[in-house]
Amino acid sequence: FTKKSITAFDMALIPRISRAQRMDVLSSQASIAGYKSALLAANELGIYFPMMMTAAGTVPPAKILILGAGVAGLQAIATAKRLGAIVFAFDVRLAAGEQIESLGANFIHPDKSQDAETESGYAKEQGEDEQIKQRKFLSTHLQNIDAIITTAAIPGKKAPVLITTEMVSNMKAGSVIVDLAAETGGNCALTETNQTIQHNGVSIVGTTNLHSTLPTDASQVYSNNISNLVSYIVKNNNAAIDLQDPILKEVVVTHKGTIVHPAIKDLSE
Ligand code: NAI
Repeated sequence: FTKKSITAFDMALIPRISRAQRMDVLSSQASIAGYKSALLAANELGIYFPMMMTAAGTVPPAKILILGAGVAGLQAIATAKRLGAIVFAFDVRLAAGEQIESLGANFIHPDKSQDAETESGYAKEQGEDEQIKQRKFLSTHLQNIDAIITTAAIPGKKAPVLITTEMVSNMKAGSVIVDLAAETGGNCALTETNQTIQHNGVSIVGTTNLHSTLPTDASQVYSNNISNLVSYIVKNNNAAIDLQDPILKEVVVTHKGTIVHPAIKDLSE
């Protein structure tokens, strides 16, 4: 990079602020993963998602629980609802509750007076006491749930464990967990990366890289993200890289061969 005087951008560092939304690759790809996670759950389950009223009898709808209602979680909720399931969702950020309800799902939370949202809009890591309280609360719901899709994440940290081995042991045989956080350690203690395992009749799916299973749309939205960033930088046929700009200061890693990103600078020193 230094010898060739390269200016490099890390697309995964696009900040999640309103004006950068059209360049946000993590969101465009996580949205695909959320959609696919609901299809995976439907595929693994031995029951219908929608209620079916047939001559052979009425089949009740599946009950789906989504843990973490960020980009992937909200898309999983929307897809599971479109497929006709009854959807419950939990997030530590109370603002997510309004979004969950606007999609027609039920927001569940152990204590609606506790909000874990930081100023940047992300969730803060939960303390041990809070985690125990959450697991206890979730345990009371799991008996009735057919499939859980977990997407809980804290940027730069290992994924929080929301479902312990004991909690899986108490779930109904035939139920399914799709753990989207598999790549960062998993929201379920039993998740194995890129494998589907069984525990007491419960399937736990740890597939990563789900966006690659929808390659045409993943590439389409990714290229839109890139072209929006390029249009933002190029003005009057000139690439103007202002390192004080709120988007560029987050995303430019090296500029003309010099490491400029504070986090990477610290690592290289
Ligand atoms: P996001 O940051 O938009 O959402 C994460 C959500 O988890 C936030 O709403 C946050 O408030 C919530 N959360 C944090 N701690 C929690 C806790 N203890 N309990 C409940 N909720 C909690 O992240 P995004 O973009 O939706 O990604 C979600 C996950 O999916 C990430 O782990 C990401 O790496 C993964 N992912 C997986 C893919 C795959 O193929 N498996 C593809 C793309 C993303």
